[in-house]
Amino acid sequence: MAKGFLHLHMTVVILFMLFFGYKLILLLANKKASLATFRQKTKVVDMILGSLILLTGGYLLYASHSIEPYLVGKIILTLVAIPLGIISMKKENKLFGLLTMAIFVYNFGVAETHSLTFKREKIVIQPEAVDTTAASSKTPANAILNQNEEVALKNGKAIFTQVCSACHGQDGKLGQGGAKDLSKSTLKHIEVVQIITKGKGLMQPYDGVLSEQEIEAVASYAEGLRAN
Ligand code: HEC
Repeated sequence: MAKGFLHLHMTVVILFMLFFGYKLILLLANKKASLATFRQKTKVVDMILGSLILLTGGYLLYASHSIEPYLVGKIILTLVAIPLGIISMKKENKLFGLLTMAIFVYNFGVAETHSLTFKREKIVIQPEAVDTTAASSKTPANAILNQNEEVALKNGKAIFTQVCSACHGQDGKLGQGGAKDLSKSTLKHIEVVQIITKGKGLMQPYDGVLSEQEIEAVASYAEGLRAN
């Protein structure tokens, strides 16, 4: 459901930008008669698209678990850009028109990177204390291997709790905002790593936020939540 809304929201925004872009070109080229005709013809479409942006955006906001700063920034900018865009066309103000377009393009970057500065902040993971005596009864080589695995799994769990559980729940089943039930996932390890790295739908990419090892660790932990 939320995924469908995200696609609809993006489609509507792109359509709105295309229409606005065309009008802006006419305005900048001083083709006032063509602009007036085009505006007249697309008046209703424009109104529908504008309302759909706010409606789908509103729903996505409602469906998202935590309201992050980038979202607040995006909402404020959108609420500024829409009236600014309308005024720019009504008053044939080129500067306002360019400003509106700039806000739309900037917002696109914000939506893509989930950051107001286009830079994602690194997440600092607090690893849980690792019990180094656990593998003591095994042969030394095995002990080190087991210990490494254990450390990775504990890190994975710490990351999952801190980063993923808001949407997926500690058991992977929460399904907040359309998050997939991880206990029922059938994806291969490489696909899980890919989704965490690149993101999917409403799930943000963790590329640059978590290190490769951290992504590996949390992927393995998430796979461990599956009902066998
Ligand atoms: C903002 C909420 C959110 C957070 C935080 C989040 N996810 Fe997701 N996750 C989703 C959504 C939504 C989907 C479904 C994506 C789709 O298919 O469109 C998803 C899908 C997945 C899938 C794919 C499951 C499948 O079988 O298709 C995996 C694996 C996954 N998430 C793991 C993680 C891990 C690991 C973390 C933490 C690093 C995490 N997620 C953080 C929302 C979130």
